[in-house]
Amino acid sequence: MMRELADNIMDIAQNSISAGASLTEVHITVSHEEDRITFVFRDNGCGMSQDMVQTVMEPFTTSRTTRKVGLGLPLLKQTAEMTGGSIGIESTLGVGTVVTAAFGLSHIDRPPMGDVAGAFFSLVIMNPDTDFLFTFCYDGKDFTFDTRQVREAVAPIPLNQMEIAGWI
Ligand SMILES: Nc1ncnc2c1ncn2[C@@H]1O[C@H](COP(=O)(O)OP(=O)(O)O)[C@@H](O)[C@H]1O
Ligand SMILES: [Mg+2]
Repeated sequence: MMRELADNIMDIAQNSISAGASLTEVHITVSHEEDRITFVFRDNGCGMSQDMVQTVMEPFTTSRTTRKVGLGLPLLKQTAEMTGGSIGIESTLGVGTVVTAAFGLSHIDRPPMGDVAGAFFSLVIMNPDTDFLFTFCYDGKDFTFDTRQVREAVAPIPLNQMEIAGWI
């Protein structure tokens, strides 16, 4: 199975939704100068205990009783490390979680980015009642997408309504 970084983004952002986040942030930075891709995921979901943070990187830790795809964090870690990068998790129960990941941009084992815009679109459409802040910085050029701004602009139409979805 060919995994792309966009798949990792879906997995990790989906964890924030599962954690009950009302706001999920995904920040992507691509720097040729630093030869790095970095992801920062920040949410205001339920958070994890420090014990959970310690064990969550091990592939068979899950709060679910059955596993469909899962392995989100272990896969992110594996992908980061095989490209000379690393991941970090900071979490506070009742406050939220920050997951960071760095990848070697030019590393031979780095998976392609894949359809990141499609991943963002899917997250918004599948979770129309929660907010997302996406930023993409490509060699210093910034792009931002904030569903709170879109929501305000189109209220009271929900974000998954067809015309709005098409426009997004
Ligand atoms: N953003 C998050 N907020 C709270 N808990 C999280 C978050 N991300 C991961 N977790 C916890 O870590 C576990 C492992 O996550 P993951 O590796 O993606 O596997 P899975 O989602 O299949 O359980 C989750 O089941 C959840 O309990
Ligand atoms: Mg997961």
